[in-house]
Amino acid sequence: MLTKYTFGTPFDTQAVTAQVREGENCPFFEISRGEGSLSFRCPLAERDIVYGLGETMGGINKRGGRYVSFNTDNMRHVTGMPSMYGSHNFLVIDGAKPFGAFFDTPARVVFEVDFEGSGQVYVRCESEDVALYTVEGESAYAIVRQFLAAIGRSFIPPLWAFGFGQSRWGYKDERDIRTVADRYAAAGMPLDYICMDIDYMERYKDFTVNKKRFPDLSAFAAEMKGRGIRLVPIVDAGIKAEPGDETYEEGVREDYFCKNLEGKYFRAAVWPGMTHFPDFFRPEVRAWFGAKYKVYTDCGIEGFWNDMNEPSIFFSEYTRGKLRGRNCGDPLYRGNAFLSDYKSFYHTIGGKEVLHYDVHNAFGGNMTRASCEGLEKLLDKRFLLFSRASYIGAHRYGGIWTGDNTSKWEHLRQNVLHMPSLNMCGFLYSGADTGGFSGRATRELLLRWLAFSVYTPLMRNHCMKYMRRQECYRFGKKEEFRSLLALRYRLLPYIYSEFVKAALSSDMYMKPLAFGYPQDERARRIEDQLLVGDSLMVAPVLEKGAKGRTVYLPEAMTQVRWTGETFKTLSVPAGERFVEVPLGEAVFFIRRGRLLPVGGACMHTGEADLSAVTLLGDGEEYAQYIDDGTTRDVRAENIRILKRR
Ligand code: NOJ
Repeated sequence: MLTKYTFGTPFDTQAVTAQVREGENCPFFEISRGEGSLSFRCPLAERDIVYGLGETMGGINKRGGRYVSFNTDNMRHVTGMPSMYGSHNFLVIDGAKPFGAFFDTPARVVFEVDFEGSGQVYVRCESEDVALYTVEGESAYAIVRQFLAAIGRSFIPPLWAFGFGQSRWGYKDERDIRTVADRYAAAGMPLDYICMDIDYMERYKDFTVNKKRFPDLSAFAAEMKGRGIRLVPIVDAGIKAEPGDETYEEGVREDYFCKNLEGKYFRAAVWPGMTHFPDFFRPEVRAWFGAKYKVYTDCGIEGFWNDMNEPSIFFSEYTRGKLRGRNCGDPLYRGNAFLSDYKSFYHTIGGKEVLHYDVHNAFGGNMTRASCEGLEKLLDKRFLLFSRASYIGAHRYGGIWTGDNTSKWEHLRQNVLHMPSLNMCGFLYSGADTGGFSGRATRELLLRWLAFSVYTPLMRNHCMKYMRRQECYRFGKKEEFRSLLALRYRLLPYIYSEFVKAALSSDMYMKPLAFGYPQDERARRIEDQLLVGDSLMVAPVLEKGAKGRTVYLPEAMTQVRWTGETFKTLSVPAGERFVEVPLGEAVFFIRRGRLLPVGGACMHTGEADLSAVTLLGDGEEYAQYIDDGTTRDVRAENIRILKRR
């Protein structure tokens, strides 16, 4: 049961789509008002687990942490870093009487969850205008599902977006991209898309293509598609402030950009130099921006990633030169050092001027919405779209990736921890930069990371300019890489089906073990094993040099070993066991009474036959969602029941 408590005049973020009954006195929190703020407190019992908060650093259980919802471009993903690129203000307190709470405000919010042993949850919203939604239910899982139903159906990309993607900041022309495609093919490794980072543009200007590097993008996109590979260009939030640039001219003519303290267009430096930010809160600006994607769809392109939309600001017209030489102007410096920049520009919302700082967290999500709504008009099929910044509600328009991580074992672990928390907040289509964005991936790390990314909806190897090249064919012996990529494609009938079913039924695609086994005290505390869909449990190897790992089975299961060629199954009892997992192999588990369909090998999703499956596991039947992979008509009628013979 959901209840809405209204404080002041909350900004309508449109995160919640359901009709929710209004309540008067919230029984869950002690509430205090400050000047320009609202604080909420509730006690925690020793045994309580706190879930949620989406893209935050730290564990699945949020206890012990301080988290700040304030969309930030910061590549130092260290434990204790308070803010990431997205703000997802939903948490569940799983205690004697579990409940969930969503603090719906686009302003900055601080969450302290048993921080430094306080024994309480403390939430401070930097606004007096907040809509608080509480959710009651019999379990944390039931609460999450009600919340997911209230915020609306997750974005569903086409089947090809569940294939493997290769990306690198630094691919600059057709030749670079063709080489990647050729080398993947020569290595016998499947591939579905290649991302085009900012170098495809003319001097980093959105909606332009560098003609020297890509003389005929349509022909090139068609050539690649003929090989089963889609191109996925990047689009940034800022529009270069350059007279003569078509997008700039249109934006100025129609008065679509955010204004500064003097009422002129705010100028902020991002990749192209000084830019203006489209005022994504205005419907007409969103419609204009979304329609701009025609430049790409006219070339046959069906996939996009939106970046720098926190928005990231290197420095602004007000802060230029203020860092006294430290990083300022350095293209690698992207630390959002100047909070004041977010207090230096305005949006026009419903005819009123609104300070960006007060609605900061909803900016990026509105860019995603603009792109999605534009693409829905431009294309008659599903498309891929993922963004860096987000707020709850944006999950209906696109997926997200978790930004600029590092080639470190901790960040592989963080990827595992992120997935269920993101799912709880609606973001089903997500994933990390496999192998790490910055740093130097080792062969072992990339293989172990791939072995986990096999299960995440977005499976993309992406890395940074200046770092070592990270394509899977560059790490010596190829068999192990081939094996893990092949596994992803063999699992497609299951991954696609479980993802779409989860989206259709307000469910999570990746869950903590606790949600499947809430009575099992040990399972409740496990953070490095996840449930993927309804049938599968994964226990990834997360340590350097490990030959395998200890796995806890809350019940007897079917253990499946993928050798690179075949699936070897074994019934294993409940309890703890050490499982050997050689590099390039994978071990996963099928829950008791469940089935898991696996398909045949293929080199891209265009070759995949989702209907030709073999069923693994000891269950009786499996409900498989299946369609042509692109139809907009995604509905439960497309589910067929497969029975074990
Ligand atoms: C920042 C993004 O997070 C990263 O993925 C991308 O490669 C760079 N911007 C360059 O566009």
